[in-house]
Order: sequence, then structure tokens, then C-alpha cells
Amino acid sequence: MDPTRNPYSPGAGSPPPALVGRGAEIEAVRIAIERFRLGRSARSTILTGLRGVGKTVLLQEFRRLGQERGWVCRPLEAGRGMSLPYAMADLVRKVLLRLSPAHDIAARVRRALGVLKSFQMRWNLPDGSDLTVGLDSVPGWADSGLLDEDLAGLFTEVGEAARERGRGVLVTLDEVQYLKKEALGALIVGLHQISQNQLPFLLVAAGLPSVPTLAAEARSYAERLFDFRTINTLGEEDARAALVTPAEQEGVAWEDEALDRIVAETKGYPYFVQEFGKQSWDVAEGTDRITAADVDAGVPLAVDELDTGFFRVRVDGTSDGEREYLVAMASLGRGPHASGRVAAAMGKDTPGVGALRHKLIGKGLCYSPRYGEIDFTVPLFDDFVRRRLWPT
Ligand SMILES: Nc1ncnc2c1ncn2[C@@H]1O[C@H](COP(=O)(O)OP(=O)(O)O)[C@@H](O)[C@H]1O
Ligand SMILES: [Mg+2]
Repeated sequence: MDPTRNPYSPGAGSPPPALVGRGAEIEAVRIAIERFRLGRSARSTILTGLRGVGKTVLLQEFRRLGQERGWVCRPLEAGRGMSLPYAMADLVRKVLLRLSPAHDIAARVRRALGVLKSFQMRWNLPDGSDLTVGLDSVPGWADSGLLDEDLAGLFTEVGEAARERGRGVLVTLDEVQYLKKEALGALIVGLHQISQNQLPFLLVAAGLPSVPTLAAEARSYAERLFDFRTINTLGEEDARAALVTPAEQEGVAWEDEALDRIVAETKGYPYFVQEFGKQSWDVAEGTDRITAADVDAGVPLAVDELDTGFFRVRVDGTSDGEREYLVAMASLGRGPHASGRVAAAMGKDTPGVGALRHKLIGKGLCYSPRYGEIDFTVPLFDDFVRRRLWPT
């Protein structure tokens, strides 16, 4: 079938042609935004889930919801080694400039920029714009040197400036698991403080399934402060809709049996649904129909594409020892597995491979669903390991 009209979109953060099965999450954030608009409070949402389930595209959808309502929306992505003060200063500066035109800065925004200026000075950050050069710094609100307090101070300035401008601010923070414990703790405290003032500042975050535990370790009350939502596979109906709806718009139909096969192959993981849909479309013989035979022809292409992309990028940058650990995990079948069993499969004891385990968790390739257990953060990764990393 004509590849130029192929609607499917496998790729990290690539918006799907039909965003299906996430009505509850979208509704929760819509309600939070509306509540803020009414001057009420709402909890911040944190999405958690394996790689490729659709967390990043949901964050995009949330920003779209905010934009529709005239909110200032900004994305932020945590990375290993990210400096939170720097990232926050940069974010706050961009948000403030969007709240007020640069040539005519509103008084409340001007003050907030002054507070930002003291924050930047206290945290030895470069002054991000010429704009604040001529502004007086406003000391005493976000320059204590304690990150918790200073972030709370900055967020309050942003929230108040937004409220005064009759708008709101929505920040999405992706890959939360990469934040260091102190940074995550400071962020939680900052959000906690502003949530008590009912300011229109909403943070919606996403990360791997380890995030609720990391948040609880950083601040014990995190559990009450956030609305944690697990993003999972698509149910069968939704997975079918994800394929059928975009095709219909191109005048193309899917055979029932073709859909059954994709659902079975992908187990409803959104990334895989997109990849299998895409390949099946490209190899399809007809001009208005995708058949089970087309899917059969597309499967090896889709698997190859995933192996050399989605899965492969995860193992790039792992050491030989780490790969051995991954192979040992996969040798035990689908997880989670007791860490002791993985060690035993390597002919070692648990402390002997603790460092490898720790590194793989730090790289976001594995996580511990429960104490003493380990699993992959990438769905169906054990199959990939058996296909591609198996020692021969
Ligand atoms: N609800 C959904 N319906 C259909 N496809 C989806 C859905 N959510 C995500 N996808 C697709 O899955 C892939 C992975 O999405 P992404 O947001 O990057 O996942 P994550 O951030 O959880 O790793 C993308 O190709 C996207 O188009
Ligand atoms: Mg993502």
C-alpha cells in the first residue's frame, strides 16, 4: 500500500494517529485544569509505566489541553546529570516571558523575573536573557540556598504572576526516574507548598514504574500529594481501534483476522501496535484492504525494525557484564525474577552482581517491582535478548 499515506507512527514521543484508551487520564488532567481555573486546588498527576506504553504522547496531549484554555505549557525532560536549579530557572524564565510580552512586562511578571534573578545569582546560574539584565533582583524569596525553599519560592512567583494575568501554567516533566533523590525531594516540597495556595500551576509528570517508590523515598508524603496512574497496554478493542480508525480515514479497511494477529503479536503495547501496523500497511498488496497474509509478511519486518531501533538503543552503552546480567534475566523467562535467581543463573551470589543490577536500574533498563525482584522496563525485552544477545 502507498507508504506516503501510511498513518502509523512508531517512535518515542511520536503522536499516534488515534490516541485511544486513555480517556480516564485525559479526563483527570482536564478536571485538574478546570479546578485551577475556578481557584480550587488539584493534585498533580504522575504517569508511570514501561517504555513505549504512551506516557510521553499523553504528556503532549495534556499540554494541548492546557493550550486550548490559554495556559502557558512547557515540556521538561529529566536526564541523567541534569541540574535541577538550571532547568527550573530556564523553564521559569520562558514561562514568565510567555505570560507577558517582552516589550511591556506586567508589574507582577516583572517582580517574578526579579525573584528569578536572585535565584540565578544564589545558585550561580548564568543570566538566561538580556531581559533580566536591566531588572532589579528581588531578594528574599528564592535565594536561601536551600533548594526546597527556593523552588517553592519560584513556583509561587510563577503561579501568582499567572493568576494575575488570568492564565495558568502547565509543566510536563518526563523521565522522572532520572532525577536525583535530592532534586526529586525538592520538587515535591515545592509543589506541596504551592498546592496549598491554590495557584494555577500544574505539574504533570511521567516515568518508569519505579517512580512511586523513588518519590516515597525522597519524601514520605509524596503518595498523598500525587495522583499516580499506571499506563498500561491497550485492551483488545482499543488496540483494534488504534489500527482501524486511522486506516478508515484513508479509505482502507483491516481484515478481522489481520487485527487478531497484530493484537496477539503486540500484546497491546502501543509502540508495537504502531510498528506492526506500519509494516503491515507498507507490505500490503491491495489498495484498500490489509489482510492476514499482509500482516504475516509484515511481522518479520516489524520485529527487525524494533530489534535495530526500539530495543537496540536500550542496550547500546551497556557493558559486557551488564549484558551478561540481561541474558541471565532473559534465561529465566518472562519476569519479574528474584534477584537471587538471576545471580544464581550467572553462577554468582546476589551481592556479587549487585553493582551490575544497580547500574542497569540507573540506566533505566531494569527496575525493581518489589523488594528483591527485578524486571525489564522494556516490554517483551526478554524475547529480544533471546533473539539478539543470546551467546552462541
Ligand atoms: N494511546 C495510544 N494509542 C495508540 N498509539 C499510542 C498510544 N500511546 C502511545 N502510542 C504510540 O506508542 C509509541 C510510544 O509512545 P511514547 O509516548 O513515546 O511511550 P513512552 O513515553 O511511554 O515510552 C508511539 O509510537 C505512539 O504513537
Ligand atoms: Mg517517553
